[in-house]
Amino acid sequence: MADLKIVIVGAGFAARVVHLPGYSANQAPVAAICDLRPEPAEALAKQYGIPQVYRDWREMLEKERPGVVSVCLPNVLHREVAVAALEAGAHVLCEKPLATSVAEAHEMFDAARRAGRLLMAAQHLRFQAEASAIKRVIDSGALGEIYHSEATAMRRLGIPTWGVFHQKSASFGGAILDIGVHILDQAMWLLGNPRPVRVSAVTQRRFGQRPEIASIMRDAWDPAAFDVEDFGVAFVRFDSGADLVLRASWAAHIAERELSNVLILGSEGGATTHPPALYHTRNGVLANEEFKNLLPRNTYEAQMRSFLAAVRGERELAVKEQETMNVQRILNAAYRSAEEGREVPVEE
Ligand SMILES: NC(=O)c1ccc[n+]([C@@H]2O[C@H](COP(=O)([O-])OP(=O)(O)OC[C@H]3O[C@@H](n4cnc5c(N)ncnc54)[C@H](O)[C@@H]3O)[C@@H](O)[C@H]2O)c1
Repeated sequence: MADLKIVIVGAGFAARVVHLPGYSANQAPVAAICDLRPEPAEALAKQYGIPQVYRDWREMLEKERPGVVSVCLPNVLHREVAVAALEAGAHVLCEKPLATSVAEAHEMFDAARRAGRLLMAAQHLRFQAEASAIKRVIDSGALGEIYHSEATAMRRLGIPTWGVFHQKSASFGGAILDIGVHILDQAMWLLGNPRPVRVSAVTQRRFGQRPEIASIMRDAWDPAAFDVEDFGVAFVRFDSGADLVLRASWAAHIAERELSNVLILGSEGGATTHPPALYHTRNGVLANEEFKNLLPRNTYEAQMRSFLAAVRGERELAVKEQETMNVQRILNAAYRSAEEGREVPVEE
């Protein structure tokens, strides 16, 4: 990778926890990092031996002429920086959600096409050992005809305690865009990217605006400024006649600290990712098969390894344009449906 200069825009959580450790584990040094706030950028530069620190991403693109750009910024900034990086000739790994509208996502992929460069949404749950095992089971046809699925990402109390996740002006949405997008992407990939046609959704703000909840979370956000959803549920119809229920919640009165699961039901079998299991009928006997000996995998490292291999032309991009576009279509249709209080068609 020494010939391919990697730079990172945004020196917050995603850069610190996902991108830098991921590149580092793949022996891919990062040449520069940029943030409006110099302290976190300089701290990460010191930790990872990054030679250059910038405050202005345009200046960084101009001076560094990178081959790969990681976009680790608040959601509403993804489009502008990703398009500029692609136009400057870089391949782009952009944090999730890729964009805040279907039009923005189209614009980003169009820019990639024009530039002849790769653009991938950082959907690391694709690389989970459990999901990979279930993907193989599904692709073998063991489930028969798939008719229903449920993608669930719910936390007992896990409202992000940093950044601008709570503000619509910076993030566009809340729990659906933060954790819902991960589990939705995983489910759509497992299902083989069916075409969504209609979505009906409800969003709720039940916890984030309450001072006594914010105080449990060390007053990490201003409850008066919390203006995104902390719960969302969406019912998605596919053109095949199958459906999917997406549930995303930063906080809920549930038994578990965290629920993360995709359930898929087919005519011949059902499957879950957590636990990774296949439920079917063998020789007239109801059988549950749990896959207990999966090799653990660091999803961030695997994501970077896969992206860098695609950049080198050694493999296809793991997260494909049509998959990310369908995820984006569902997300934006869900917000539109919640706002209008009715089922809506997805936007092309
Ligand atoms: N894949 C994952 O597991 C994961 C985890 C966390 C966040 N994310 C995603 O990563 C993105 C960033 O989230 P985060 O948690 O790192 O947020 P964060 O607030 O920790 O970091 C964002 C950084 O961007 C900087 N910034 C804002 N505007 C800028 C600009 N114009 N130029 C330069 N820097 C600027 C901020 O100062 C901040 O340091 C979001 O899209 C989020 O959804 C993904």
